[in-house]
Amino acid sequence: MQLFNQLASLSLITLPLIAQADTVVNKNDLTFNANQYTSQIIQVNGQEIKYRAYEHIVYVKNPVDTQYQQMNIYIPEAYFANGQIGSYNAQNAPIFLPNSIGGYMPAEPATATPSLKGPKAGKTSTVAYALAHGYVVAAPGARGRTTQNTDGQYTGKAPAAIVDLKAAVRYLRHNDAAMPGNAEKIISNGTSAGGAMSALLGASGNHSDYEPALKALGAANARDDIFAVSAYCPITNLENTDAAYEWQFAGVTAYKKMMMGNMIDFRMERKEVAGTLTVAEIKTAKDLKTRFPGYLNGLKLRDEKGELLTLNAAGNGTFKEHITSLLMSSAQKALNKGTDLSNTPWLTIHNGQVVSVDFDQYVKTITRLKTPPAFDALDLSSGENDLFGTSTIKAQHFTAFGQANSRVNGTSADPAIVKLMNPMSYIGAAQSITTKNWRIRHGTTDRDTSLAISAILATTLKNQGKNVDYALPWNVPHSGDYDLDELFAWIDQISQSH
Ligand code: DHB
Repeated sequence: MQLFNQLASLSLITLPLIAQADTVVNKNDLTFNANQYTSQIIQVNGQEIKYRAYEHIVYVKNPVDTQYQQMNIYIPEAYFANGQIGSYNAQNAPIFLPNSIGGYMPAEPATATPSLKGPKAGKTSTVAYALAHGYVVAAPGARGRTTQNTDGQYTGKAPAAIVDLKAAVRYLRHNDAAMPGNAEKIISNGTSAGGAMSALLGASGNHSDYEPALKALGAANARDDIFAVSAYCPITNLENTDAAYEWQFAGVTAYKKMMMGNMIDFRMERKEVAGTLTVAEIKTAKDLKTRFPGYLNGLKLRDEKGELLTLNAAGNGTFKEHITSLLMSSAQKALNKGTDLSNTPWLTIHNGQVVSVDFDQYVKTITRLKTPPAFDALDLSSGENDLFGTSTIKAQHFTAFGQANSRVNGTSADPAIVKLMNPMSYIGAAQSITTKNWRIRHGTTDRDTSLAISAILATTLKNQGKNVDYALPWNVPHSGDYDLDELFAWIDQISQSH
């Protein structure tokens, strides 16, 4: 009843099925059927949005799991009557592609109607906002680390999720002529593990490494490069992220950890328990921290002025200054908007200007979330260990450090599969298209991964000449879709100028 009231208060009206007559001969034949939809209306900010809902479209010919290898496509009704929304019409409307992946878990496609569970239950969905803005929305599901078939084999371990997202993109391109919206203007969106997959989709367009898996699934024979990437707090670059985490957090021995080791999905409510690192963990943290400068320096990243971003053995240097300058910009922006920052012990402010950041104090203030190694857990208990299992092995290591220090004699993932999950392996790769337009956000109070990870991704892309909008929103924790007005303004600007 309570749920009914919530829905009623959003004035959600689902009209009867209009066009059910077309029977589906082969629902996996990859042909978009424009007549197979329900008409729906949803209220967004007091405005009524009418759209056609094409739901549960299986996007590969030979699905392994139709619960997840399917997509919901939503199209504003206006585009079937020569209408316009803003400056968009059936020909030029971008296609917004929000994945709902969290925690590297299996994800069903997002819906226009509010989700029924999680922190956003009952709230206007991202899909609905995107429709109201005039985008065609294609929300793909994808297999994840816990998916199993009836024989009990795992079917969604790495690289399943990225292969599925690529198959969804290929479906959209394959059907571009039959659908309103422009498949040359696909904008991928995701948060956390979903942000990582969004970034990977953008980094690895058309790369042949994924071809065998796509062929086996019977994906459409079309390109899978995309126009733009939106990634919130991407949990990515998994081979290097333990070292990056300790570069940032090694000095903090107190942690507030999630109660269940595997409860990492940003969509779940988090219950945290406080603790202190053991002597062995403090040693692991220090060991991992010393590995970071070598990796970072090897990237030869440069800032906007062309200056090399480096770190000395102690973890100090121009790269660290780069991160503190990003924090300062974030604070300055908040200050300019009137936010009271006087109780921020790690900031020095003079006459309304942020003049310095005490990075160690900042890290202590936001606290540590994970115990070392933060990702490749020595007892194989992390979500990422689970991601790198195989059809018959639940969880594996994926770093040399994890393997060498395993407490459970764990095996290691095939390095070729680890590579398939990392956008850093593909940015600028030959015979592949790396997306030109990127928007990356990583909140200043996010402790799920180091700020270094998003900064390395953004800087690598910038150094390759990509159009990158990267910022650390002030006081924002591990989350996404919190600034859709700004995201949509960015999408409009790139869609209209490119
Ligand atoms: C997510 C969060 C994590 O801390 C992590 O390690 C992986 C995924 C998430 O919210 O998706």
